[in-house]
Amino acid sequence: MLAALLNEGVTWGDSSEWLPATPSESVDLWFTSPPYADARAYSRIHPDRYVDWFLPYGKLMLEATKDTGWLVLNIKNRVAKSGPLQAQRHPYVYKLVLALQEQGWRWLETYIWFKPNAVPGKFGPRTKDSFEYVYAFAKGTKPYFDLDTIRVPYKTTSQEIERRRLDKLGRRNTEAGFGRDRTTTYLRGGADPGNVVSVPQTYNQHKGAGGHTAAMPEGLAEFFIKACSPEGGVVVDPFAGSGTTAVVARRLGRRAGGLEIHKAFVDGARERLRLDEPDNEHVVIQLAYLDRWAASALIRVARASPRGGSARTARPDYRTGPL
Ligand SMILES: C[S@@+](CC[C@H](N)C(=O)[O-])C[C@H]1O[C@@H](n2cnc3c(N)ncnc32)[C@H](O)[C@@H]1O
Repeated sequence: MLAALLNEGVTWGDSSEWLPATPSESVDLWFTSPPYADARAYSRIHPDRYVDWFLPYGKLMLEATKDTGWLVLNIKNRVAKSGPLQAQRHPYVYKLVLALQEQGWRWLETYIWFKPNAVPGKFGPRTKDSFEYVYAFAKGTKPYFDLDTIRVPYKTTSQEIERRRLDKLGRRNTEAGFGRDRTTTYLRGGADPGNVVSVPQTYNQHKGAGGHTAAMPEGLAEFFIKACSPEGGVVVDPFAGSGTTAVVARRLGRRAGGLEIHKAFVDGARERLRLDEPDNEHVVIQLAYLDRWAASALIRVARASPRGGSARTARPDYRTGPL
């Protein structure tokens, strides 16, 4: 079964039927974004029942994971539409995390996927959603983790890096009592990126393969695939959607496959795998605005016009800029 999956890239099927056939201890990383509670037309799982719905998948994945392997879960909170919690954040995500921990998954980290270009809208007495969770669960006590693959540039000058490199004083205690070895600070090829992962939403993500409306940006998958699976390792997405995990994992030299229950998404994902075009065009929300000069010119034009009707066509300067 796993061989077919890895061969096809994205396989048409129901994970609840396929996962039991996955050999035990065969998968390095499950990287997935399951259907969110009650969210999309392709799947409506009530948030009150979400944990019961997900746990059987969690158990099957746990059995099929290598000792060094991971389940990395991208999931989003939601606002309850009805019931006693109406208009509040529903706690189903937190309940799921605790339930998976009780199931035997070792909850190692909560990452925040920050969306610097999150789409605006009207959300009541709260701001727009500009992050989602990514929960990282390991099976064993020594999971594979390669921080070096996800390092980011140091936030300092090359002169300061060089100065530290030549610094022979080594560990120096600070007033706060920490004895950090400052000579090695900048010798690691880049800084630890931290657990807030900033990945812009992308245009492909919105078009989605096969008309998928909830595809994640490839940059998100890339971060976790690089850090949590070795090259040549097995990466599987049991809720594959438009195939983002498989596309990125294959590009990064992993053996990868996914399961998707909707045929149209499977066809789209396979085409995407065939084309392998990087999804790197960021969505830029542009809002037309007038600078001060243009606004005052508009007012002058409007005042000069007897009916005030020529302002629209008389705009002398009309610039666009990111939100
Ligand atoms: C949030 S989407 C995944 C999007 C994906 N990360 C991407 O980038 O395109 C969840 C997907 O899980 C699929 N799905 C839901 N239940 C499934 C099941 N039992 N087996 C396989 N796929 C399932 C849905 O059809 C949907 O496409």
